[in-house]
Amino acid sequence: MQPLANIIWVGDAATGFLRLLDQTRLPTEEAYLDCKTVQDVWDAIKRLSVRGAPAIGIAAAYGCVIGAQNEELDHAIEHLATSRPTAVNLFWALDRMKRVVPPTPDALLKVAQAIHEEDRAMCRKIGEHASVLIDRLPIQSRGVLTHCNAGALATGGIGTATAPMYVAREQGKQFHVFADETRPLLQGSRLTAFELAAAGVDVTLICDDMAAQVMREGRIGMVITGADRIAANGDAANKIGTYNLAVLAKHHGIPFYIAAPSSTFDLSIPDGSHIPIEVRGPEEIIHGFGRQTAPADIKTYSPAFDVTPQELITAIVTERGIIQPVETETVAAMVRD
Ligand code: MRU
Repeated sequence: MQPLANIIWVGDAATGFLRLLDQTRLPTEEAYLDCKTVQDVWDAIKRLSVRGAPAIGIAAAYGCVIGAQNEELDHAIEHLATSRPTAVNLFWALDRMKRVVPPTPDALLKVAQAIHEEDRAMCRKIGEHASVLIDRLPIQSRGVLTHCNAGALATGGIGTATAPMYVAREQGKQFHVFADETRPLLQGSRLTAFELAAAGVDVTLICDDMAAQVMREGRIGMVITGADRIAANGDAANKIGTYNLAVLAKHHGIPFYIAAPSSTFDLSIPDGSHIPIEVRGPEEIIHGFGRQTAPADIKTYSPAFDVTPQELITAIVTERGIIQPVETETVAAMVRD
């Protein structure tokens, strides 16, 4: 299920360009951005026109083709690596592009398209593995809570956290989704609620601060989110507010799952304390969506991600299978090549 094409290569390798669905304009406008320079791709990633860990990696891979068109591949790789720090898929994709021999636009485009296609396949596999989690929902609590957008818009396929929703729906399983709105940039309301509703999935939008009450009312049977980087021990960085949900889920005895492809694992770091956390500017809190909602000169602190420690994660679903319990050994056994 892909509501809108989000990442499109237009034309041939030598003269083509990258067309991106501008996610900052959703849900009210379906507008596309044409990226013809490496700087255009960098800007699109930085301003979240393309966002979500796998989608950032795919877009950056196509950005390398644009760099090679002007014999600036090395610069493209170095520059794109500075766009956002947390999602490891960006560095994973750039590393793959760096190893392409010979580094011609043709050869690079083939690898970028392979990364895109592999991500589509990984999402599907995640959905197939994770749809059993829907079977485990208690009869009286068929609600699945998710946060941010780890959906089709964030990937090359049917999403990561949303993949079990799409697959379980095809299989006729009964459940409904609660989507957190996801302050401050509202990926949950603008993107997740939009894409699930468009796909005909039963989805209810809640504000982030309602999650505890909704859990206490017994409406939630599981929580599932994506991830931007998972350390060797299973600690997982994801959109700010994910850690809150994991703590709340533990308190209410609700399983907390992460869904992510193997390209989101960073086995070079032992635990989540090594994950760089992006800090974003004050305007996203003070002037969110064009309206001033705080004193113009107020101090802000805006970490864009948090790290959920492995002990709060019931299982991690990858395209290779389900990691449970989440420990250094079980992560290595599933993800190490
Ligand atoms: O800042 P964003 O919108 O790029 O953050 C995205 C998330 O945190 C997603 O949950 C994560 O990248 C997983 S996407 C399949």
